[in-house]
Amino acid sequence: MKKTLLFMMLGGVSLLGISACSSMGGQPAMAESGGSEMSMDMGADSYLMPPAKVKMMMKMMMSMKPDTLSAGIKRGEKLFYNEKLGGNTSRKSCGTCHEGGGTVGGAAQMKWKGMTMKVNIPTLKGAAAHFPKPMGPMKALVDLESMNNMCIMTFLKGRPINKNTQQSIDLAAYVTSFSKGKRLEPGKEKTVPRPVPGAM
Ligand code: HEC
Repeated sequence: MKKTLLFMMLGGVSLLGISACSSMGGQPAMAESGGSEMSMDMGADSYLMPPAKVKMMMKMMMSMKPDTLSAGIKRGEKLFYNEKLGGNTSRKSCGTCHEGGGTVGGAAQMKWKGMTMKVNIPTLKGAAAHFPKPMGPMKALVDLESMNNMCIMTFLKGRPINKNTQQSIDLAAYVTSFSKGKRLEPGKEKTVPRPVPGAM
């Protein structure tokens, strides 16, 4: 009785192991099939593909229209003024507080652990050049994309944007455009032109 139970358990474990492996292997394998063709094109494995096919694929890649920085910045600007960003229903956008990449002045309210605090609204001019740095009440070390997400969650009451998406990169590209030519100074504090007394 004990032996069969042990056997069943072991069987269960190994079965789980197998199914976990296959389900984990399933998706990346599919994603890889696209990627491996690319690496064959460019890498040491290119002999695996007939030269005619290599030539055709290179031609295809060369004819693809490249994305541009200015196109990304434009897409980011749209997100910046989108009042539904992150599915938020507060009818606010980044522009509500950081109009034109500056600050509308004043302080924003923020709740943390039951406390309400006032936080000075900084300008975004030069802000991107100050990341990574510790931010938020927990002083977590964050990069620009995570900072943008903090504002989406805290001030827009929306859901964060997946950092592995074009949207996240585009929004960061727009915010970074306000730091063009600025000195890179990771860790530097936010810039508040006219601080509100009593606000952080
Ligand atoms: C309700 C006002 C408000 C809205 C809306 C808002 N922010 Fe902010 N933002 C702030 C405040 C306040 C801070 C400062 C937070 C702190 O000091 O902890 C800040 C900080 C930042 C910073 C860091 C600046 C620095 O130099 O440290 C960036 C970048 C930023 N916001 C981007 C955005 C983006 C992008 C959006 C839209 C997704 C957005 N913000 C929406 C109020 C707002």
